[in-house]
Amino acid sequence: MSTDHFFIELHRHSEAKLKILDNYLVPWMRKITMGSFGAERALVIDGFAGAGSYGNSDGSSIRLIKHAIDFCEQADANNRKRPQLLILLIEGNEENYQELLKNIYRVTSLDLSEEKGYIPIPDYPSIQISCRFGKFDEVLKSRLDNLGTRETLIPSFCFIDPFGFKDTPFEIIKRYLKNEKSEILLNFIYEETNRFITAKNEKVKAHMQRHLGLDDIDSVQEMVKGKSATERKQLIVDLYSRQLLDNTNVKHILSFEIKKDGRTKLILFYGTKSMEGLKVMKKAMWKVDDTGLYMFDDRKDPNQIEFQFTKELNDNALLDDLCDILTDSLSGKILSINEVEEFVLTQTIYPLENFCKKVLKKIENKDGFHNVTNKNGKRNRGTFPPGTVMHFK
Ligand SMILES: C[S@@+](CC[C@H](N)C(=O)[O-])C[C@H]1O[C@@H](n2cnc3c(N)ncnc32)[C@H](O)[C@@H]1O
Repeated sequence: MSTDHFFIELHRHSEAKLKILDNYLVPWMRKITMGSFGAERALVIDGFAGAGSYGNSDGSSIRLIKHAIDFCEQADANNRKRPQLLILLIEGNEENYQELLKNIYRVTSLDLSEEKGYIPIPDYPSIQISCRFGKFDEVLKSRLDNLGTRETLIPSFCFIDPFGFKDTPFEIIKRYLKNEKSEILLNFIYEETNRFITAKNEKVKAHMQRHLGLDDIDSVQEMVKGKSATERKQLIVDLYSRQLLDNTNVKHILSFEIKKDGRTKLILFYGTKSMEGLKVMKKAMWKVDDTGLYMFDDRKDPNQIEFQFTKELNDNALLDDLCDILTDSLSGKILSINEVEEFVLTQTIYPLENFCKKVLKKIENKDGFHNVTNKNGKRNRGTFPPGTVMHFK
């Protein structure tokens, strides 16, 4: 891919990634700094920070800074203490890095050209920015090395948005995700991975192994041989999801497909240990158009993986789909509303909002429960308040 003109204009498929970031960041900061975690500090890393702006739009790094500022202003408006937010920006191209420094200055009045550590924004000193020229894996490794042996990072979110597959070795992602409350949104560069996964050139093979975290790519090459485009995609998504689940403490994976001209261009992988994070990210992804969502389920046969292009279906079709999933999967079970919500959140692509309770009401109307009770007292038919327990037929 020619990268010279990348920052001149933000293309639609790139915009989808940034919209997800926009939808996710402030709710995530709120959960981390004010939610049940109760942490006062949060770290946001942009591993491939870019120049900070496109001709027609802000880039990811400047968006992160603006969201942090918005969040502090919300705290001011509500008479709350401002949260401590650290922002680490890493950029590996000298020209883009210089442009990024200019854009940071434009937005914050911070001159980071001589600075390597975290520097507070003058008007928002609880936000501190560190901007590093260097390679993502090397800079992140040195930050993690500096933590010492027993420490873990403060709760953090890492956006990883490279140009190609050579710059995101699985090893560093694995190491980062070993930190307690760390999560990733990774642009997996599917198109290139798919193109080069069968390469015979030893150098390319070595890069692919590093990218996928494998000692040996030969068996994968054998597996993809003769497979259709869809089967290959299923195989690759399944492989990477399993790598994340087996080698890190991540508990939930969401994959998000972005197409360009009908072809799969990017697949974003979101990995988190937190159900709260998953909840917020699902909501963020559902707001973005023309894309497919896939919920990784460890127990599913890889051949069943299919991206669901939700915007192609109307709301009734989506509700019917979730209705079928719940009646099939939960048949015979007695579950509390919390357990049903957890199932919807972790085993389906559907967010809770606008889906879960509507579908339970549908099931009740179709006489799909043996009974529904509420241990806290009476309930009205078609409502599922806390304490509700239902026995699926
Ligand atoms: C896809 S662009 C990032 C776009 C940015 N996330 C945005 O949305 O505005 C990839 C960026 O990573 C930089 N880059 C390339 N290799 C890198 C590496 N190994 N480490 C850090 N940055 C790198 C490129 O110069 C480019 O600015």
